[in-house]
Amino acid sequence: MQFSIVIPTLNESENVDLLLSRLFALDLLPGSFEIIFVDDGSKDGTPNKIREWETHNKNIHLIERQEKPDLTASILAGASIAKSDTILVMDADLSHLPEQVPAVVAPVLSGKYDVAVGSRYVSGGSTHGWPLYRQWLSRAGGLLARPICDVSDATSGFFAFRRELIVNIPEKARGYKILLELLMSSHEKLRVIEIPISFHDRAHGTSKLSLSHNLIYLQRLITLAGGTVSIGTASRFAIVGFVGVFVDALVFQWLINWSSGLALAHITSFLTAVTINYILNSKWSFQPHFKGSLDWHQFGRFLTVGLLALLLRGGVLALLVYTWHLSAELAIFPAIAATAIINYLGSAFYVFPENKNCPPLNVRWQVAAVGIVLFVILLRLVYLGLAQLIPDEAYYWQYSQHMDLSFFDHPPMVAWLIWLGTAIAGQNEFGVRIGAFICGLITMGYLYAFARNLYDKSTGMRAIMLFSVLPFGFASGLIMTPDAPLIASWAATLYYMERALIADRKIAWLGMGIAFGLGLLSKYTVGLLGIAALTFVILDPTARRWLLRPHPYFSAFLALLLFLPVIIWNFQNDWVSFLFQTERLGGGGHVFSVHYLIFYVAIILTPIGLYAALHALWHVCTKGKHDKCERRRNLFVCVFTGIPLIIFLGISTFDTPRFHWTCPLWLAVLPTIAWMLGQNSALHTVSNRLRAIWQPTIIVSLLAYAFILHYAVLGIPGIPYQFLAEHYFWKEAAIEVEKIAEEIRSQNGQTPIVVGMNKWSIASALSFYTKDSNKMDIRSRNMFGDNSAMYDFWYPSHPATDRPIILIGMKHHTLEQDRAGNEIDRLLIQPSTVQYRTVTRDGTPLRRLYYRTALGYRGRSI
Ligand code: GDD
Ligand code: MN
Repeated sequence: MQFSIVIPTLNESENVDLLLSRLFALDLLPGSFEIIFVDDGSKDGTPNKIREWETHNKNIHLIERQEKPDLTASILAGASIAKSDTILVMDADLSHLPEQVPAVVAPVLSGKYDVAVGSRYVSGGSTHGWPLYRQWLSRAGGLLARPICDVSDATSGFFAFRRELIVNIPEKARGYKILLELLMSSHEKLRVIEIPISFHDRAHGTSKLSLSHNLIYLQRLITLAGGTVSIGTASRFAIVGFVGVFVDALVFQWLINWSSGLALAHITSFLTAVTINYILNSKWSFQPHFKGSLDWHQFGRFLTVGLLALLLRGGVLALLVYTWHLSAELAIFPAIAATAIINYLGSAFYVFPENKNCPPLNVRWQVAAVGIVLFVILLRLVYLGLAQLIPDEAYYWQYSQHMDLSFFDHPPMVAWLIWLGTAIAGQNEFGVRIGAFICGLITMGYLYAFARNLYDKSTGMRAIMLFSVLPFGFASGLIMTPDAPLIASWAATLYYMERALIADRKIAWLGMGIAFGLGLLSKYTVGLLGIAALTFVILDPTARRWLLRPHPYFSAFLALLLFLPVIIWNFQNDWVSFLFQTERLGGGGHVFSVHYLIFYVAIILTPIGLYAALHALWHVCTKGKHDKCERRRNLFVCVFTGIPLIIFLGISTFDTPRFHWTCPLWLAVLPTIAWMLGQNSALHTVSNRLRAIWQPTIIVSLLAYAFILHYAVLGIPGIPYQFLAEHYFWKEAAIEVEKIAEEIRSQNGQTPIVVGMNKWSIASALSFYTKDSNKMDIRSRNMFGDNSAMYDFWYPSHPATDRPIILIGMKHHTLEQDRAGNEIDRLLIQPSTVQYRTVTRDGTPLRRLYYRTALGYRGRSI
């Protein structure tokens, strides 16, 4: 006897004959398998049908259970009387083809695997005859299980396993999903394989899968993931939540009626509700999971979740009120609902987690990763269109208004993306930024795949979690600058590099050519990866073979082809942009600036991120000399992070770096950092201490981003706008500028020219925020002789004129002297002194706007 087939049945009489005749028609040795039916009190004569067969064949058995019908219990009962050590489970309704039985048991029979899953969702697998909603349900079920187990089809009912594994299945495992229990219950790592199957809708009869099965599944999933969710906690939480909603809404309405502004009203009402909720939840909802006394640690966690929910909710509220023009009184309800979900999940997984059967570290990190990444995506989506553009974004938007093959200070990708985004979503913040958001998603996809290939899937998840919460990653998926597409193509290039150089895939060179070419179209820095690749190929004998093959050259050619627009533009413009980039190096006046570079890295990675990165780099550069795979992987990470880093360090010995220069290079070492994060104490204590600091770092970062966004969009009551505000709030500043222009127009009869008195920020931001009204004539400081990047191309000069002029500045002195120290007065006719106005929003002061007017312009030649 090689294996035992266990088949649960519940009213399957019409299918028994068909199933058995097909099973016995299989090309298997007679007597090599037995079939155990487990019936749960079918009313349609199924047991009689089976008994007919049983009398003729000693390898068919029937168990008739008397207990409450249950699929998992049935399968366990069947397995317990099996004569062989390999068990195969399948449905009785011919959904699982008997002809695929040999393929599904083979891996377990061979002893190479502990579990073989007949899977619909690996390549080669399929589903036939199921209505769309069932397919979706099953897909969703599988996806939800993904964070805790690495199987594509975790809800499959067709699988084989070693019998001894069932001893681990907990008593309370009930319901439909015995496979999931099997995969999760074992303490050692199981060897699991997925075999593609084609699933067909049942031949006869009806499905017994009901809604309550789905709910039980969901609940088990959450428990297995370390959460405490049950119908009990959820309904108690819902009742408490309901009280909370009531209090929250009441206080909010009351404050709104006292006209206290969105931010103050929703924050106060939230804090009132949250305090009441915490008391009720800890004393009642989650009481069985909770000691009862006030626990500061836990209260801190509760507050954290609450704060995150609150800060996100401000965005939801603003979106509904400002963008969709709902009244505040109505908008508060969907806003409360959205945050209730975050609050509940946060409570179940983080504040009151399952602490009796705590899942392994790996699983907990994966669950945390999913939660954190989803929160970050949500936060970005909500605030994407609400937060005003920073001047840099407005400048790149100006690019898109003057579409070209390339631009003076950057290649064209950023402009093309903004052009596309605004063409689809309109000339607004959302349209400008949606490209950055999508680049963020692309980066996550490639980073995940890259980390998975270097290490494993759970490292991949942790890598994208780190990417989402580290400042450079968070910002690059929200703010539209050339770094957004640069980072996406950098991640893609790394992924293809690894596939080509380490996994030896020819086809990867094609992807690399495209990714690298798109990278060059985003920012020239991606070229550093080319140098790193060359270094790797020189150092690694296995990869060196590629030098003699055509593929890398084809790839380079492809990249060059994509880069062609930039070359053509430069050819037409006397190579200015290449000259500018090379001049810029060394243009900083030969100052030793390595300390700046390090300081900046501590900002974009956070200090702990910097420390972890150095630790990871040290690890890859010194460890793994024995195992060939590990050595090559470490060399890859070492070279692809180290080479760009060394080059930037080199440059900073004589030139001041910009703070975001090194952003993309950290992508290559993120997988190693993520891997170390998930290691148990096998590594020495430094990594243990690191892990302990990561948790607060992640939380503080998330809170900081949510806080900044809320602050910029709605404000935080009690905190005035002071920091860097002169760089921001151009929407309100533009209204002020329009007022000044209107005053002059009514005095003078002529429309004034507005000149932004710095390189490009002011002019660009004003252009973006005055675009809806009658377009103003907006220039940049190059009108008076200094240079202004693309403004030198768009508005190279202006003749002398007696049209009135308004000069706008962020700082007082920029309106008096240019950078060379020349008085600006001499170019103006009857200039006024420098004045300022305070820009406000709903009565709240935001910033100062410096300006100066004149009756005309004498022209630059004077
Ligand atoms: N003994 C016993 N007790 N058998 C049962 C019970 C029960 O309570 N409920 C269902 N069965 C048997 C059915 O007779 C059938 O042989 C098999 O279990 C699967 O039940 P179906 O009612 O046919 O389920 P389904 O087709 O809707 O669900 C299928 O797809 C799911 C994935 O989405 C099955 O393959 C599931 O196992 C699978 O998880
Ligand atoms: Mn079925």
